[in-house]
Amino acid sequence: MDDMPATSESRFDLLSAAKINVFLEVLGKRDDGFHELETVMLRTDFCDVLSFAHNTSQKIELTLALGSVVGEGEFPLGDSNLIIKAAAALKQQTGCRHGASIAVKKVIPAEAGLAGGSSNAATALVGLNRLWGLGLTKPQLHQIAATLGSDINFFIEDCSAAICRGRGELVEPIPTGGTLHFVAVRPEVGNSTPGVFSKLVPSTSTCTSEAVVAAIASGDAVQLSSSIFNRLTHPAAVCNPAMKSLLDSMSKLTGKPAFMSGSGSTCFVVADSQQEASKIEELLKTYCVGTVVRLKC
Ligand code: C5P
Repeated sequence: MDDMPATSESRFDLLSAAKINVFLEVLGKRDDGFHELETVMLRTDFCDVLSFAHNTSQKIELTLALGSVVGEGEFPLGDSNLIIKAAAALKQQTGCRHGASIAVKKVIPAEAGLAGGSSNAATALVGLNRLWGLGLTKPQLHQIAATLGSDINFFIEDCSAAICRGRGELVEPIPTGGTLHFVAVRPEVGNSTPGVFSKLVPSTSTCTSEAVVAAIASGDAVQLSSSIFNRLTHPAAVCNPAMKSLLDSMSKLTGKPAFMSGSGSTCFVVADSQQEASKIEELLKTYCVGTVVRLKC
């Protein structure tokens, strides 16, 4: 048995939040194949839960916890899982040889543009750093996160809202002025992020995030709804025509503009209040096919 790490905490739970993008502009394609982005992300209250515990092996034992709404088919527990990759990267970086049991209560759907996998990876880095008593600093965790994916750094930063640049990994927190309410629908079919980027047609002009940033700073739902933009909406609609129909029907049903998060396929509208969000949630649950969730940011 490997020596137990020098930490008194042997078991704890951490929330692993979904994000939504309220602005996403593609500034160009880079030599490494990634796209240069400017995106504004909001952390939501829609969360998976990761339960961490020591085990007696040197391995990560990953399981799906009771209450998960996805099966192992949609959330493989092997080496392809970003939690396993995050743990391996942390061990490689630090030379740590401990194992851990991680049970995931998985409610955030995959291929949704909500960064459920990236959020889990960030939570695994933070949780294992704590469980194993490694003492890595936030900048050190950022460094590892950037090697694993583009959205993970946003969750390491642990802020409510941020402008993310580079390929998404350069995170600048921005001020928030009040709670914003959204209703989101993840249609039955998800989107592959590389597939969506591959259908992107270069644009001659670019949009800026100033109006969205100002709306978030003042907590103004109406201003936010009139300034949300996502350059990936068109290529995603080419990949997933059912998602395009969903966007159209969400607009018609609610009388509000509907938007896509990240590379999709989750679509959302901004509600003016919690009460309006409840009404919209009921409406969309009645008339739309997919998973309907209310989000608070
Ligand atoms: O970094 P992440 O794993 O989220 O990226 C998944 C895929 O999305 C990449 O392999 C790439 O095809 C595409 N992508 C991109 N530009 C970005 C982020 C992602 O082209 N800034």
